[in-house]
Formats: sequence, structure tokens, C-alpha cells
Amino acid sequence: MILKGTPQQTRRRFLKSSALAASAMALPSLPLASQSMQADAHIEILPGDPIGTISPEIYSHFIEHLGGVIYDGVWVGENSKIPNEGGIRKSFIDTMRAVKAPVLRWPGGCFADSYDWRDGLGAASKRPARAAFWDQQDSNRYGLHEFMRTCRLIGCKPYLAANIRTQPARDFYEEIEYCNAPAGDLSSHSAAPAMPNAGAAQRAANGDKQPFDVSLWGVGNESWGCGGNMTPEEYAAAFRRYTAWTPSYSDTPLRFVAVGPNGDDVNWTERLFKALYANPERRKLWGLSIHYYTSGSAAKFAAGDALQFSNDEYYDLLTRGSLMDKVINDHWLAMGSTPGQPNVKLVVDEWGAWYGKGTELGSNYNLSQQSTMRDALLTGITFDIFQRNAEKVGVAAVAQSINCIHSLMLAQGDKFTVTPTFHVFQMYLPHRGATSVRTEFTASSIDNPLGNTPIQVGGNSYIGQIAPVRTLSGLSGSASVPAGQPKQLTLSVVNPHLDQPKTTEIRVRGASVASATGTVLASHDVHDHNDFVNPGAVRPAKAVTGAASGGRWMHTFPPASVTTLLLTLS
Ligand code: AHR
Repeated sequence: MILKGTPQQTRRRFLKSSALAASAMALPSLPLASQSMQADAHIEILPGDPIGTISPEIYSHFIEHLGGVIYDGVWVGENSKIPNEGGIRKSFIDTMRAVKAPVLRWPGGCFADSYDWRDGLGAASKRPARAAFWDQQDSNRYGLHEFMRTCRLIGCKPYLAANIRTQPARDFYEEIEYCNAPAGDLSSHSAAPAMPNAGAAQRAANGDKQPFDVSLWGVGNESWGCGGNMTPEEYAAAFRRYTAWTPSYSDTPLRFVAVGPNGDDVNWTERLFKALYANPERRKLWGLSIHYYTSGSAAKFAAGDALQFSNDEYYDLLTRGSLMDKVINDHWLAMGSTPGQPNVKLVVDEWGAWYGKGTELGSNYNLSQQSTMRDALLTGITFDIFQRNAEKVGVAAVAQSINCIHSLMLAQGDKFTVTPTFHVFQMYLPHRGATSVRTEFTASSIDNPLGNTPIQVGGNSYIGQIAPVRTLSGLSGSASVPAGQPKQLTLSVVNPHLDQPKTTEIRVRGASVASATGTVLASHDVHDHNDFVNPGAVRPAKAVTGAASGGRWMHTFPPASVTTLLLTLS
């Protein structure tokens, strides 16, 4: 099935194009293959076996002061000719709205632990330019108020990463105060007069009278590495100190996220929890951060290339990406092995495919990379893993939304395109807030010939290594029942086979499928991608339903595809 219109273009032949996603969202219609042929794969959905509610926040986002993410990607400035709303690139806002971005994490990443949040306040002309983590000088033009404006325009919640490496705990709680204290006089004590809170007054003077109401706070970032090279015990002590007292302005407790492991380093989590829970006064942990990036083998070129890859490297990357399931479950078990801890959620706040250098937008766009159909499949595989682990994963944020590792958007000046990954974010919208239900997939698996080779991530080896894995599921996915609609099911399926369509019998235990509609993202070449010349090269097709057969649904999933089916039960 060929869904793209023109041959692959080189990404360097740019064309003026900021026409976002409007075209990408007007889906062409293609027939769903619905045949009465022999099945070579089977899916059984068990609506009576719920896993948990799929948190809408697992489809969240991350932007960092890194390369061209903030400056150019998000922030173009009020006086720019590039369409913007208050300095923020309009096509960025529109795309984030189109995927109903629930949460946006900022300012890092590694950047966060060198950042002074006060530097980005007040008159732009008076803000200090400073050396920043990613070897770039930061003008501080984009600061806290600009970030909050971005969130308001998108309609998403802010998630702030606090600096615990170079700032004391006082700066942390004053940042919370600045963000959340209500304006106006607060009565403090019956014996003392009511008076304005200093943080709130400063915030109002800087243009925002209303509190930002930030509830999600990362207490540091990668504290085992760029965030301070700490041991788990040292980090546990820091976490306790930073969260022992923080100002509170609502009955809903703040959600503090502790720094989790380097990749699949279970030892970090076990030691961290032991140290944290050794002190019975520690009560404020809501989530444990997980960073898991996927890279190719080091066989040819460390981390692999975003655009040039062999069939073996394609299967290898998807196999390594599907290890997200192991990372989630290993750390869930590790947290559970500590007695007395409350129900801490996993917060996978950095994930994606991270390749080596070679496809950057330009020299100032550190870590930007192209994104192909392969990355769309990785996105589907990852979302399905989150959804199958709905009771464990509370928040997840892709790294990063624009001009970076696993981006939904690429932008350079007035040029703009969405990537295939953007389309998968849209295709998974119906799963939000639904009940994930157990689903069994039966299909021939795929051998990963590179399963034994070592990996590096982004050319760095500091992210935790994972034991090699040799097998990739021949068909994977997840299913959910939308809230209050027991006769509906959403099924998403990834067929990673490069050359095999999978004709699949879909059954629902205890019910019959009456009809289905669907959307499919596929392309005749997994190297296909969108660029500034051809921003609509890869886009999904709207499927037309076929007929049910004896309460079952026969569907052919095209090679190298992501499909979402909306099933109606009789
Ligand atoms: O997303 C890029 C970087 O990857 C982040 O700054 C850091 O947290 C991780 O190592």
C-alpha cells in the first residue's frame, strides 16, 4: 500500500513551507483490506480483563534549551515575520493543539541543572546572557513567563524540572512560591496583618497576576550524570532536603518526580528507594522518572543514522525500542520491593530514537535529526507498551517535540514540517482516558540479527546499556474501551514486517464485531520521511470499513505500518 505521493526528497532542498498539519490532517480515504482469506495472525481482545485507565498524560512533551529546540523551534520573537502568537511559533502551537498535548516539560534535561529560573524574568533587555549546558550561550529571552504563555496557548499543563545541582533548596521552594502563590493579600497569622506574597507580587509585576498553578515538579534531572554525578544515596538525601517543606496553595499535593535510573539500571532504583524510605518522614514522592532512548547497534556507526539504515538495522532498532516494556516492568518491580512506599507512578519523561550525527538541520541545531517511517513504528510500539502498562505509567514525554531527537516537528526559519511521528500521536488520541484491556497477539516473530551487538546512545555510552535481545514481535499493539462506551473498542496495531502484510483475524471475547473504521500510516519505503520540500510525503490514510464475518473481523495490516481501528461491538 503506497500512501505517499512523491519520491523521497533530500532534506537539504528546502522549500518555504509553514503549512502545518492542516493538510496532513485531511486524510485521504483508502479501503481497509477486509477479506475472507486465511488468517496468518490472530488478535484476541479481552474487554473483561481491564489493565487500568490510560493516563492522558502519557502522550506528553518535552522542550529544552538545546540546539534549535527553543530558539527557532518554539520561540521566534514577537517581531518575527514567521507567524507567531506573542513570539511563539504559530505552527508549533497549532501542532501541539492538534495532538492535544497534555503536559509540556521544560527547561531540561541537562540544561535544567545549570539554569537559574530568575534569569528569564523581567524586561528582556535586562536579562543576562549566560553560558549554558549545551555549549550555547542563552539569551534568556525565553523564560518562565514565555513558557507559561506557551502552555496556555497550547492548553497543556506545565512540568518544571528544578535545578538541584547548582541551586539550593531555597531557590526551589521560591520558584514554587513564584509560580503558585495567589496574588493579593494573604492572611498569614491571626496576630499578623494580611500582606502580599513577595513571589506573587513579583510575578504580577512581570505580567502574570494569576498563579501558574504548576503541580508537576521534577526534582533534578539525571542526577547520576549531568545532574551531579550522584550515587542513589546522595540523590535520596537531596530529594528529601528539597521536598521536606515546600509551599502549598491547594488541597491537591504537588506531584514530585524523583530522578530515576540510567536506562535499565535497576540497582539505582532499588538503592534509591531503600534510602528514601529509610526515613519515615519522606512522604512526597509521586513519580519516578525513567529515561530510555533507543539507538541502533554500534556495528557500523555508533547509534546509527536517522535516514540510512539497512533492513537489519531497522529490525534492530525496533527490537531495542520494544525493550521499553522490560524497563517499565523491571523498575515497577524494583519500586515494589521496598516496603512502605505508596503507589509511585513511572514518569517516562524522555524517550525516543536517538541517532548519530549527520541529519542535523544545521550547525546550530545540535541533536536535531530526521525522522522516518521507522520512527513512526517506534512511536506506535512505545505507545502500545505504555498503554499495556496503563496502571504503571502516569506520565511520559517524548524527547523532544521539535528540532531534536524524536521530534514531531522540524522548523528552520520560515520552513516547517511535521514528521511521521506526529501522525502517530494523532492516531492514538482515542486511547486517552480509556480503559486498557488485555489483548493477545499471535503472529510469527522476527529474528533480530544484530541482537548481540553493543549499543551506544546518541554517540554517548552513558545511558544504561540493555542486554541484547534477538526477537521482535511479529505484530504488537494494545486495545482500550473508551469511558462510558462499552460497545466501542480502540485497537492499535504495529506490523513491523518489511515485506509481509499480515492478514489477521480479530476476535473480541464475549462479543461480536459489527463494524470498524480505521486509520493507517504506511509507506512503500521505511526510509520515507517528510521534509521542507515535501511536508506531506508521509501521511495517514482514512480507512473504509469492510464487513464482519461471523462476529470476527478480518483485517490485513500492511507491511511496516501503524494502524488504529475503532471497532463497534454488537
Ligand atoms: O534530551 C537530550 C538529553 O538527554 C537531556 O538533556 C538529558 O536529560 C538526556 O541525557
